[in-house]
Amino acid sequence: MTDSRLDEGRGAQMWGGRFKEGPNRILWDFTVDHSDRRLLADDVFGSLAHVTMLGKVGLLSDQEVKALTKGLEAIGTEADEGTFQFEEKDEDVHSAVERRLGELVGEVAAKLHTGRSRNDQVALDMRLYLMRSADRRISDLKRFGRILVKAAREAGDLVVSGYTHLQQAQAVPLAHHLLAYAWAINRDQQRFDEVHRRLRVSPLGAGALGGSSLPLDPTVSARYLGLEDSFANSMDAVGARDHIAEYGFAATQALVHLSRLAEECVLWASHEFRWVTFGDALTTGSSAMPHKKNPDIAELTRGKAAIAIGHLTGLMALQKGLPTTYNRDFQEDKAAVFAIDDALAGSLKALGALIDGAVFHPPGPDPSVTALDLAEVLVERGVPFREAHRAVGRLFGSDPNSGQDVWKVTYHDLAAAHSSFRPEDVALTEPVKSVARRRSAAGGSFSSVQEQLRRLDELLA
Ligand code: ARG
Repeated sequence: MTDSRLDEGRGAQMWGGRFKEGPNRILWDFTVDHSDRRLLADDVFGSLAHVTMLGKVGLLSDQEVKALTKGLEAIGTEADEGTFQFEEKDEDVHSAVERRLGELVGEVAAKLHTGRSRNDQVALDMRLYLMRSADRRISDLKRFGRILVKAAREAGDLVVSGYTHLQQAQAVPLAHHLLAYAWAINRDQQRFDEVHRRLRVSPLGAGALGGSSLPLDPTVSARYLGLEDSFANSMDAVGARDHIAEYGFAATQALVHLSRLAEECVLWASHEFRWVTFGDALTTGSSAMPHKKNPDIAELTRGKAAIAIGHLTGLMALQKGLPTTYNRDFQEDKAAVFAIDDALAGSLKALGALIDGAVFHPPGPDPSVTALDLAEVLVERGVPFREAHRAVGRLFGSDPNSGQDVWKVTYHDLAAAHSSFRPEDVALTEPVKSVARRRSAAGGSFSSVQEQLRRLDELLA
């Protein structure tokens, strides 16, 4: 082996025939990407399906099928046990499996790749891998949703301000606020279900791009793999990556939801909000400032969402303007979608733990959050909403210097604002009363929280 060239025969077992010299070190280092080693178990499963199909259509004898199956199963065991050894000369996971199969079963291994290309092979491996990941993410999301539901139950009748424009707006149960995220997480879970459905199509049998002169039957391998369908167009089968981008979107959108909750965790833990105390073991300190207790898990969740958005953009750009069927560019899809998926898995686990151990103790909202309720009292008495809005608005000075720490109103103020106010209306300026009066379906009321908890218990079971 020279510095600039790998030793002779490198890559030769797959495509060496037309080459007079082996691959150059520069080429190898640039083109080989180990990200696909994650696909090992799926590659073996796909090869088992392919061998079964080749046997069924008479391209392999029963004996050959038996030998290849035995060898592939042994590799599958090595994959499961983590003992499979990759070698430097393996160009990718597909060549590694074929090389190992040769070591285990000898010459018959040379028949494995009959009627197959790495193009339909890698397309299948990614589908199988992402189907398994989608299942895992769905259960991770459910677990996370259950943590939110538990926190909402524990929040009991705590009342906070809901915010718009990050200004105190309307009083709501803290549980209602937390459950808003549970519903978003529930949709994320549905999105993975939908992506999963589109992943369940086998591209195996498409070959390099145009099928084969051999009597392959893609439905046989699809059935072996438990997939509902096989491809309708061989060029689309090897050239499509929209399902990978779609997986990337499902995961990134979930991360974006988590990033919003994470941002709230950061705010809530601040001295200014003081809504929550996170567990010591789930927060970090400062090397310089002895008093600090930092919500790093929440901050990193925000950060990971940012990087995931970049990878998702990469997955879109990777497809844009690319002539159809396989292009080596596609190799890059793996590192990108795996990074997004890992970020989601890690964030669900860490942010879930942070919230699971959180103690909520929000101070009550400012009584001004009852302003809309005051206006609605007038509406109940026949006052047009616009007039009621104006009247209550007058209770709040626009002079910034007239602002008080806590808004306070007397019957005298109410009567001056509108003649339909009554003395007992002063009591409505308590935020808890405002929540108690809330009546509209699925709004921020305690009865709506109970109904949501009931439905979410079912959905997240
Ligand atoms: N490592 C390649 C990828 O991830 C596998 C497919 C290679 N196909 C090819 N024709 N070179 O896309």
